[in-house]
Amino acid sequence: MTDEIARDPKDVVRDGYDAISEIYRADDAEDGSQGEWLAEFARALPPGGHVLDLGCGCGVPAARWLSARGFTVTGVDISARQIERARALVPGAEFIQSDMAAISFDDGTFDAVVSLYALIHLPVAEQPGVLSRIARWLRPGGPLLAIVGASPGTGTEENWLGGGAHMYWSQTSLPTTLEWVQQAGLMLDWQRFIPEGDTGHVLIHARCRSPRDK
Ligand SMILES: C[S@@+](CC[C@H](N)C(=O)[O-])C[C@H]1O[C@@H](n2cnc3c(N)ncnc32)[C@H](O)[C@@H]1O
Repeated sequence: MTDEIARDPKDVVRDGYDAISEIYRADDAEDGSQGEWLAEFARALPPGGHVLDLGCGCGVPAARWLSARGFTVTGVDISARQIERARALVPGAEFIQSDMAAISFDDGTFDAVVSLYALIHLPVAEQPGVLSRIARWLRPGGPLLAIVGASPGTGTEENWLGGGAHMYWSQTSLPTTLEWVQQAGLMLDWQRFIPEGDTGHVLIHARCRSPRDK
């Protein structure tokens, strides 16, 4: 990964996923680990609850998994190609093309929020603000399931996945992210290291504070 960022990171991410959408995730990709995480996550959700998938990609697997089990799903992604595929692959869900840092929803709109492998593409300076907005969009007590970075690093990679496009990532340290989670008004329930090659990410489960929480 190089440290030099010559273009707007949002353009790098948008153009990158437009170019490599199919390489990143096939139409018929299996649920894999995400299916297991979601099965655990969904146990506490109300039947038919409204779930926001931030950085939903092509809708596979998370939006597909949730929609197939009767949840009302709204997916948001910055990439037009990812959204186009998501609308075709998960017709029962609603998908919006937007920067997650720019979109707005009414307070308490969602019963739950998932954001898998997406916050790590957002410049770190914007991550605390998005976490605060997630906390506001959740109903009190509503859970967040998210993949966050395990260690700090911001930069780009050329020809990511061999698809000819650049990609951009931005992560701070895990303790800093967890501090932002708490400051946002979310209470951390647990964190799990998810290995990937010789590095990895962290899966966190948090809940929006409710009046019953001290
Ligand atoms: C690594 S993919 C993960 C997709 C899906 N969540 C999954 O796990 O398969 C990251 C996704 O986040 C989206 N993304 C990155 N930055 C974003 C932003 N600022 N706003 C909305 N979507 C974003 C990308 O376009 C991409 O589809």
